[in-house]
Amino acid sequence: MPNVVIVGTQWGDEGKGKIVDILTRHADIIVRFQGGPNAGHTVVVGDKQTILHQIPSGILHPEKKCVVGNGVVINLETLLNEIEEVKSQGYFEDDNMLLISENAHLIMPYHIKIDVAREKKKGKDKIGTTGRGIGPAYEDKTARNGLRVIDLFNDDVFKRRLEANLKEKNFYLQNYFNEIAVSATDIIKRFSEYRTKIQKYVGNAAGFLHKSLAENKRIVFEGAQGTMLDVDHGTYPFVTSSNTVSAQASTGSGIGPKYLDSIAGIVKAYTTRVGSGPFPSEQDNETGKLLRDNGREYGATTGRPRRCGWLDLVTVNHSIQVNSITHLIITKLDVLSGFKTIKVCTGFKYSDSQVSGFPSDYSVLEGCTPVYDEVEGWDQDISSITSFDELPEAAKNYIKYIEDKTKTPVAMLSVGTRRSQLITIKELFEN
Ligand code: GDP
Ligand code: IMO
Ligand code: MG
Repeated sequence: MPNVVIVGTQWGDEGKGKIVDILTRHADIIVRFQGGPNAGHTVVVGDKQTILHQIPSGILHPEKKCVVGNGVVINLETLLNEIEEVKSQGYFEDDNMLLISENAHLIMPYHIKIDVAREKKKGKDKIGTTGRGIGPAYEDKTARNGLRVIDLFNDDVFKRRLEANLKEKNFYLQNYFNEIAVSATDIIKRFSEYRTKIQKYVGNAAGFLHKSLAENKRIVFEGAQGTMLDVDHGTYPFVTSSNTVSAQASTGSGIGPKYLDSIAGIVKAYTTRVGSGPFPSEQDNETGKLLRDNGREYGATTGRPRRCGWLDLVTVNHSIQVNSITHLIITKLDVLSGFKTIKVCTGFKYSDSQVSGFPSDYSVLEGCTPVYDEVEGWDQDISSITSFDELPEAAKNYIKYIEDKTKTPVAMLSVGTRRSQLITIKELFEN
């Protein structure tokens, strides 16, 4: 199968970065197609950890092309820092490795100010955003007020659109949030510096992908966030502001859906969530604490402790449907070692009745109680096991149980942060 889409099936942080890095070995091109610096994708090579926010997680392999698609919102300041950081770690030696779509939208300083001020004003009702300006940037894109990468290269257009935006944004910032206005002169100066530094990476990304597809190149599409954070299919309004599902790999990169050959859904062996919003299988107790400690569940972008709970198969099955997932990849299986029994949420009850599917009504979802199955756990450390057959019987049964309840084959298991800590059951890229 020439092209593979990677999506998170839960609320993000499923370990997408690690899996994309592994699949990059068999691919030519790695494409980010949505989200922005709200993402934090961790890749561990040897003893070195790299956290990628805007650059695709293929960048640690030489001679691969990493593409930031039109569906991504870009913070140029932090992207340039990230480029420096990755280079200083000894990766990304050739500037040709990165291509940024000229159609991608820019996160402007006022987007960040509005995001942060809005959350502050919402108080306990806040979404718990990453504060990176993601929502306001996508709002402007949809409202047709956005500034794109291409606009950096036309001084008149950039100035005119910026000034028109600032009339609205500064009024809003000053009068509604009591915040200080942002200055056009300052932004123009800063962005002309960014333009000089970013220019060599900018181009027609969709055109490049079409050409590459014609040459039978293999592509990994790297999703950010997770399906339950999708603006249409997630736990709205406690979601991010982009579509995180597999179909976005097409719209967010400029190629048609017929090229999305296999869709791999990453499933953490339990569930985590950062920020506010419903989380039916959450364990706000000793079990949750144990999962957080064993899994080192702290945000890769904001450092916030992640909320932890049992695996929720209602969520995973919903994700399988809305993404057309063809394979599952289970990560962090090692973190469950030591639990005598493991609970799995298999359904929700609302007012004593069984709920079918995933409720859209947020107040229903909040009032749902999970229905659990309980399966046998295992004691052994499994973090150096590299074949399915060597796993303890109970761990094998856990995987077979997930396959059975989701009717979807598991292609890989991850049992630790490193590249070598992986059990391959089925190769996604045929050699
Ligand atoms: P992403 O946003 O989906 O790329 O995931 P993050 O990088 O935010 O969070 C996943 C965390 O789990 C990172 O710290 C990874 O290094 C780590 N990780 C990934 N796979 C495994 C695994 O199989 N076992 C353990 N213990 N850690 C893992
Ligand atoms: P990766 O790609 C986990 C969450 C935020 C908040 C909500 C909206 O690393 O899996 P936003 O800043 O996007 O407007 O915040 O979405 N969120 C993530 N949670 N992993 C992520 O990305 C996330 N990106 C955003 O915590 O609840
Ligand atoms: Mg993350």
